[in-house]
Amino acid sequence: MSKIVYLNGKYIKYNNAKISIEDRGFQFSDSVYEVIAYKNNNFIDIKFHLRRLKYSLKELKIKYSFTYFKLEKIIKNVVLKNKLKNGLIYLQITRGVQPRNHVYKNNLKPTIIIYIIEKKFNDNLKDLKCEKAITYPDLRWSRRDIKSVSLLANIIAAKEANIKHAYEAILIKNGYVTECTASNIWIIKNSKLLTHPANSDILGGITRKRLKIIINKYKLNLIEKKFTKYELYKADEVFLTSSSSFITPIIKIDNKVIKNGKVGKITYDLAKLYNLNL
Ligand code: PDD
Repeated sequence: MSKIVYLNGKYIKYNNAKISIEDRGFQFSDSVYEVIAYKNNNFIDIKFHLRRLKYSLKELKIKYSFTYFKLEKIIKNVVLKNKLKNGLIYLQITRGVQPRNHVYKNNLKPTIIIYIIEKKFNDNLKDLKCEKAITYPDLRWSRRDIKSVSLLANIIAAKEANIKHAYEAILIKNGYVTECTASNIWIIKNSKLLTHPANSDILGGITRKRLKIIINKYKLNLIEKKFTKYELYKADEVFLTSSSSFITPIIKIDNKVIKNGKVGKITYDLAKLYNLNL
């Protein structure tokens, strides 16, 4: 955990970081966030993350304006003060503090928190960790493109996966796969990659974005199109992408083994290419 956190302009000890009970982030989850990986003393795609943060703030009309240069500097300071080498940086901005009222005032001062969590990334390609997943109904609101801290539907599904000893819950809306509780999902069928289009039904993942750049560079066949639960079960390969675990092969879903239950060739190659980019 962070020893030092950044809270509203100050670097302070974790235990001294306090937020008002009237903060709208706490009362209404009126707040957005970002998770940025820091691996071997390097930020992974920090610019893309800060650009998505600006988008989330704009869509919710939260008035926190920043320059990439200044916010990056603050994030770097948090990393340095915590002597972080490998881990995740969590950044959260709420609309601010106000006596409880659904209707927000326009002149609130947003609350900003930045802290880190140490993490050892599993990047040993020789034993790329394969995982199990379950499917679960997608109970979320219809603006999943905003990285909001309203994660109740995600945590319910994630807990269900955990109870069933699965790594992730794959979310299903009207028979179609959207994404997972904290990652995007991809399938491969007959050497073609498929993933849900980046619209308001999913979070446009940064790992997804980076992988798309790699896929285009190597002229692999990608179709951004939604696919059914049946297509998911019948896929040759399935994998997930996220900033906290990069590329994760899925070999079993709801007790159905995917193909031969081993990491597929394309998933393996993509993980290798992705790691080269880190
Ligand atoms: N989760 N979809 C959802 C719902 C997510 O919460 C995330 C990220 C992703 C992948 O996005 P990215 O590649 O930018 O990490 C997709 C982060 C890691 C989290 O909430 O902890």
